[in-house]
Amino acid sequence: MAVIHAALGEARDGRGGVVLVEGGAGLGKSRLLEEALSLAGRASVRAAMGRADIDDNVVPMAPLMSACFGGNAPLLDRDDLSALRALREDRYWVLLELEALLERAALQHPMLICLDDLQWADAGTLEALRVLPARLGSVPIVWIAAYRTGQASALLLRSVAELGEANATSLVLDPLDEDSVGRVTADLVNAQPGAALLEIADRAHGIPFLLIELLRGLLEEGLVRIDRAQAVLVEARLPSRVGDSMRERLDRVPAPARRAAVAASVLGRSFRFDDLATMLGMAPAALLEPVEELMRAEILADSGENLGFRHDIIRQAVLDSVPAAARRALDRQAAGVLLAAGAVPLEIATRLAASAGPGDEVAIATMHEAARALGPTDPGMASEFTRKALALTAARASGDGTRRRRSSPRRAPRGQSRADSGRPSGARTRDLHRAAPGSAGARCA
Ligand SMILES: Nc1ncnc2c1ncn2[C@@H]1O[C@H](COP(=O)(O)OP(=O)(O)OP(=O)(O)O)[C@@H](O)[C@H]1O
Ligand SMILES: [Mg+2]
Repeated sequence: MAVIHAALGEARDGRGGVVLVEGGAGLGKSRLLEEALSLAGRASVRAAMGRADIDDNVVPMAPLMSACFGGNAPLLDRDDLSALRALREDRYWVLLELEALLERAALQHPMLICLDDLQWADAGTLEALRVLPARLGSVPIVWIAAYRTGQASALLLRSVAELGEANATSLVLDPLDEDSVGRVTADLVNAQPGAALLEIADRAHGIPFLLIELLRGLLEEGLVRIDRAQAVLVEARLPSRVGDSMRERLDRVPAPARRAAVAASVLGRSFRFDDLATMLGMAPAALLEPVEELMRAEILADSGENLGFRHDIIRQAVLDSVPAAARRALDRQAAGVLLAAGAVPLEIATRLAASAGPGDEVAIATMHEAARALGPTDPGMASEFTRKALALTAARASGDGTRRRRSSPRRAPRGQSRADSGRPSGARTRDLHRAAPGSAGARCA
């Protein structure tokens, strides 16, 4: 926090800065960014956050645009968004215009722009990250960019390397040390932890996400009791929410809630209640109880207008519990629901490319449309969509798709191995460490 505090101080003195935050899943990057936002609030620095999304990484500059124009009090005037929209086909001019807008706004009031989950960011956002902080170095804007170690794309690494050369400060988050684990434990159980409790807390290997899941589980299952101001372990076993795989954890909620969790995981990290109801073919009122059940089980959380998974790691673990063969069909269904709810082709093109079968007219048309929209800014991705759309058209022309569709309208296309038709189903392991966030079978969640 000291680095961020210093950078905000510099911004108040009229200078810009860049902080790069790197770390594995669940190590506290998003939490650090949230702390930075509240620190900025206290320091009278205007601040906003944009996050890249694993399911939506082709809409040009989506994380950056949501940081600049999102929220109740956007950093930039929303009226200027239409000027940028008019230029959207030319990234060069968009960046120039954005630079001018940011400069003008920051000279009136220093700013903090946080960009999270950049391992999933589109090429435009990464290009903006490479050029804007450098061009706006003498303007009071602090940029904080966070990404998962080991998952950075070549483009992200390039931007990070250039920012590093231009004096960005790098923060690498490591697992918590013993003292910090002790402090977090004391904080969560609200008492001084005893030796046995600390010993079991050690099984989270200092990963905050796992540690918090573990401690919440212990409290939830009555495995910790307070004895003369000390938190003592009642029984030395892992709580079920940590010991169970996601499949087992889902098995403990009623079937409608289980089905809702799976459908929600396919819809996205955050989703509209209505879309989930459509996905499940349920009336919204009937979905209320399953959703409340999932909120009680701390799988879903209310995130303002939408519902969302309490953490990406939890969502991934639910997704991993879906058999690969079903995953593709569910993905295709989710794309249809989102499209009907008003998603633009670009937002669902990646999903369609991965899930559509031969002869899927809607998918073919949507991918062509996405390719047209992307052509000027991301020709590589545009030609991928065109190629995929043509492949689906060619397969239809050969009669391949028609036959399949007739025999089973909802079935995933054959000829697709389990391995390449989706994510692997949740591998089970009894070792908490191997279930570290980000691994396919994350059991803690
Ligand atoms: N230093 C900390 N002290 C207490 N809790 C923490 C700390 N760091 C993180 N946490 C908590 O651990 C959990 C995981 O943290 P967070 O979501 O920030 O991880 P992340 O690095 O962003 O993971 P991902 O790569 O999956 O997005 C959150 O509940 C967060 O509040
Ligand atoms: Mg995060």
